[in-house]
Amino acid sequence: MVRPVAELRGEVTVPGDKSITHRSVMLNAIAHGTATVTGAGLGADCLSTAACMRALGATVRRQWADGQLTDDLPRNPVTGQDERADAVLVVEGVGEGGLREPADVLDAGNSGTTARLLSGILAGQRFFSVLTGDASLRSRPMGRVVQPLRQLGARLASRTEDTLLPLAVMPAHLQGTSLRMGVASAQLKSCLLLAGVYAQGVTEIDQPEESRDHTERMLAAQGVKIEQDGLRLRVHGGALLRAIDVAVPGDISSAAFWLVAGCIHPKARVVVRNVGVNPTRTGILDVLRDMGGRVTITNERVAGGEPVADLVAESSELRGVDVGGALIPRMIDEVPVLAVAAAVARGRTTIRDAAELRVKESDRLSATARELTALGGSVQELEDGLVIEGGRLHGGEAESHADHRMAMSMAVAALASGAPAFILGGECVDISYPTFWPDLERLAPGSTREA
Ligand code: S3P
Repeated sequence: MVRPVAELRGEVTVPGDKSITHRSVMLNAIAHGTATVTGAGLGADCLSTAACMRALGATVRRQWADGQLTDDLPRNPVTGQDERADAVLVVEGVGEGGLREPADVLDAGNSGTTARLLSGILAGQRFFSVLTGDASLRSRPMGRVVQPLRQLGARLASRTEDTLLPLAVMPAHLQGTSLRMGVASAQLKSCLLLAGVYAQGVTEIDQPEESRDHTERMLAAQGVKIEQDGLRLRVHGGALLRAIDVAVPGDISSAAFWLVAGCIHPKARVVVRNVGVNPTRTGILDVLRDMGGRVTITNERVAGGEPVADLVAESSELRGVDVGGALIPRMIDEVPVLAVAAAVARGRTTIRDAAELRVKESDRLSATARELTALGGSVQELEDGLVIEGGRLHGGEAESHADHRMAMSMAVAALASGAPAFILGGECVDISYPTFWPDLERLAPGSTREA
């Protein structure tokens, strides 16, 4: 249960960026040498990536303050406690040609990023592998990676006419070619870039819109030649990848919950330290500011090849906005929590061009419409978006749909409601933000404790 509280105040450090953590583990696993990844996010999704890369022969261990290295990434060997903050991972790469055939099916769990990126790596191997995931991931589209990978010469077969996991990957030699992406998806782009690393010659990728560019940044830092000309990328195959140390910034997709909470709560000031502000990820900051949100970016710096800042959000009088187009891929995971802000803003908010939300961990357009309505919001679902009439929320019961971002969005909605709300299935925050509930209690004392 989440109760409204009189005040929301304090500082918080969110887990390391999920996208960057996945890539730090995967790309260093196929590099030459040993890399240290500091500030890694250790949600269940990133643990799925670590498990898959181990099954392929790489070593991924956690280094504790006393120097001890352990295979169990979350558990502190001295205290026996589950400790996910300040994680330092040590990844021993096997080199791009050094992966070995996994003895069993690779399990990406709930993680689309693990499945899509890994399929790009597996496509170029000389061994057989099978990739699967949980029930949610097994219902998400894989045809978008299978088809272009085949154009590179990959030999793949997957369930339901090559659209769904499990995916079987046969040994193949890839040959670079020109590819056109059907959707503005960073997971698809990254899959093709990684396959391009294994392909002979140049792989050219045309994107419909810009999406997060962490893969490009990291591969370039590892010694892969990548050229960008507008929305066209060209990756040169056959490079030797160097291991690189990564300082992972805080995840702006997790910070977004506190930014919206800070803006919509009548008495709030929340500081989120050390957040990644890569321009391909900051759509939520632009939209909140357009809505009149008092969001300040301070202490901007560059760490580990990525821009980082501290973010401050304060009580604001929000007004409705129209969002769509190129902004959507820059805030794709933040749309549900933006809808929460819109539900308590003055006036109407229209979100368009967001049909991709239907194929996330849940159908986030339908789930957001349903759950915000359950808490008193006025939301109309469009095929590719939402129309939200701002007003007041009341308490009630909201379901997470086993989707971490839905659970956290509805918790933020509850904070701004007139009465307590029950969030059903709230344990799924473990996927990206295992410490979300204790952080909420710290910033809003009494909000999650039983009376
Ligand atoms: C991600 C890309 C996005 C995002 C996901 C993480 C990534 O998915 O929704 O949470 O790490 O590349 P799409 O690229 O499929 O939109």
